[in-house]
Amino acid sequence: MKHWRLEDLPWDQFDPAKVDPDIIPAVKAAAMVERNGGDYARYLNSVFHDDPDFRQAADHWAVEEIQHGDALGRWACLADPEWDYQSAFARYREGFKIDVEASASIRGSRSGELIARCMVETGTSSYYTALAEATEEPVLQALGRQIAADEYRHFKLFYDHLRRYLKREDLSFLQRLRIAAGRVGETEDDELAFAYHCANEDPALGYDHARCTAGYMGRAMGFYRFRHIERSMGMMFKTVGLVPRGRMADLAARAAWRLLCWRRDKYRDALARQQAELGLKLAA
Ligand SMILES: [Fe+2]
Ligand SMILES: [Fe+2]
Repeated sequence: MKHWRLEDLPWDQFDPAKVDPDIIPAVKAAAMVERNGGDYARYLNSVFHDDPDFRQAADHWAVEEIQHGDALGRWACLADPEWDYQSAFARYREGFKIDVEASASIRGSRSGELIARCMVETGTSSYYTALAEATEEPVLQALGRQIAADEYRHFKLFYDHLRRYLKREDLSFLQRLRIAAGRVGETEDDELAFAYHCANEDPALGYDHARCTAGYMGRAMGFYRFRHIERSMGMMFKTVGLVPRGRMADLAARAAWRLLCWRRDKYRDALARQQAELGLKLAA
């Protein structure tokens, strides 16, 4: 059973005057990735084929992720009534496929899979918190907070299963760290960049990883504040088996924040160059 429904959100309070146009492309891209949760559930069902408890939890989890996609998609249609959510998602689904019948986790073990899932939920939990705090539009504030709460519950769900699996599978600290850091690094792979392309660009314009990563990250990274990174670092430390609060977590959070600011500025510059080039082309 879903614990909230799309109709529960205060859609009638939508205020177009409070929409920051730069937030819309990021919301549209996020809607694609969230809506694709069903494929991940199929993949998780294959990897955990003999674990009915986990399979049931994964199916329920996917229902919530798909709802995140539909809610973000609905908000984006209010912000940009010309946008066609369904056809954007159809393009995304056609072009971004994961191996839903994998017999084993691409992370090398079930614990590894669960660590990667914890990293994804850490990322989404902080992202939607940051998004809710970055916008002044009341519906997106409510939606961001609602989704962030779900993502935190998802983190706890995968973390609890991780603890169960770590009792049977012996993963060293370094193995855990490598998987966690590897999954965080994948944020800048194709999943989000291609979602940005399908959700925001003319289908006639071919997909370009660098351009689309700048388009997404140049906007999305701007939502974060240090407190969001600090909280994420605590969740990451907990996942790999370190003390989530303390001097080490604090130092790591400060380093991650500096790295994020540096990358954000780099992507913003690239985005500004793209927009200037586009302006020149339109003027010609
Ligand atoms: Fe989600
Ligand atoms: Fe989630």
